[in-house]
Amino acid sequence: MISKPVERVDDELRKFLDDMCATMYAAPGIGLAAVQVRVLKRAVVIDVSRDEEARAPMHFINPEITWVSDELSTYDEGCLSIPEIYEEVERPSRCRVNFLDYEGAEQEMECEGLLSTCIQHEVDHLNGILFLDHLSRLKRDRITKKFIKARRLESTG
Ligand code: NI
Repeated sequence: MISKPVERVDDELRKFLDDMCATMYAAPGIGLAAVQVRVLKRAVVIDVSRDEEARAPMHFINPEITWVSDELSTYDEGCLSIPEIYEEVERPSRCRVNFLDYEGAEQEMECEGLLSTCIQHEVDHLNGILFLDHLSRLKRDRITKKFIKARRLESTG
């Protein structure tokens, strides 16, 4: 499922972004794409500060990754859509992203570290890609089996 571009940044969208942030913090998570709350809009919220006292939410509307570094880095990724599964994923360690901010202004940002990983993970969501899709087929099959087995155990008590 490919999410559709946001056409207007208005109060209605800002209310939606605020709701997304509340969902992300409640999870708790460090990033959320609109498709994860079943809205097919190209909107992402991220807060990598992991600081409950000083929250620093970032809003990315129609984010587009325009450049990635050759250098790669590996993070133990998880996803609110695939609970309790964490796997190491290799991605470009830095990237540049164009987007509209909370006010609808055009922005360009160079990201590194956890923010770089997170924005790439979230933009993937907008394009219907999950972090498991970056793993080898063997690894993915193993995780899928584990996931199905866990579900089965749950349903049988
Ligand atoms: Ni995710």
